[in-house]
Amino acid sequence: MTTAFNFQSFPLLEAPRLHLRALTRADAEAIIAIYGSPEVLAYLNMEPVITHEQAIGLIDWFSGAYERHDGVQWAFALRETGQVIGTGGTYDWDQSDRHVDIGYHILPSHWGQGYATEATRAMLGWCFDALRVHRVQADCTDGNLGSERVLLKCGFQVEGLWRESCWEHGRFVNIKQFGLLEHEFRRKKAP
Ligand SMILES: CC(C)(COP(=O)(O)OP(=O)(O)OC[C@H]1O[C@@H](n2cnc3c(N)ncnc32)[C@H](O)[C@@H]1OP(=O)(O)O)[C@@H](O)C(=O)NCCC(=O)NCCS
Repeated sequence: MTTAFNFQSFPLLEAPRLHLRALTRADAEAIIAIYGSPEVLAYLNMEPVITHEQAIGLIDWFSGAYERHDGVQWAFALRETGQVIGTGGTYDWDQSDRHVDIGYHILPSHWGQGYATEATRAMLGWCFDALRVHRVQADCTDGNLGSERVLLKCGFQVEGLWRESCWEHGRFVNIKQFGLLEHEFRRKKAP
């Protein structure tokens, strides 16, 4: 098997309307706009990011994950203006079983315009080409219909439901599991 990604230089990705690049501390305001938004946090188990210090802390955490070779987190920047309208990335890369998890978060003002879908397609291409995984996994809170739709549009299949497996906003919620195999992704992309 060819050697997989070695984290030497940050992977820059292109999508039709987005440039996917590394997050930097200069993105703190965009991080607050995204992770301070109640709409974005509705299906996430995390505290809102409100202050500049909290935003820097989250950006540094993402950078640290990259330095530890644990994951890649991209800023989704509009190609036309450079505005960061979302972030997303990979988590839990398992090199022996060759799978990885992905996730994404978009600024509410830009929902429903296909941005998560095109960013996810770009990330998927990179996961299969560069990480050389056999399978990409994702999950979302049962009822997060926007996220579920993004995964289905990208070719994922529903693989199961983990009942009441996550504590979110004062209650246990079901988590829906999705998977996409490499041959399914390649077949979908073929003309
Ligand atoms: C989920 C999320 C990333 C989607 O981003 P987006 O850029 O709006 O996604 P897209 O426009 O590419 O696709 C969204 C699809 O979901 C559909 N959708 C959105 N809300 C929906 C709802 N409540 N019911 C049914 N479909 C819905 C849209 O119509 C669209 O489908 P279509 O293209 O067939 O019309 C965004 O809503 C978000 O950031 N949510 C908060 C963070 C989050 O939950 N992240 C995922 C964690 S698992």
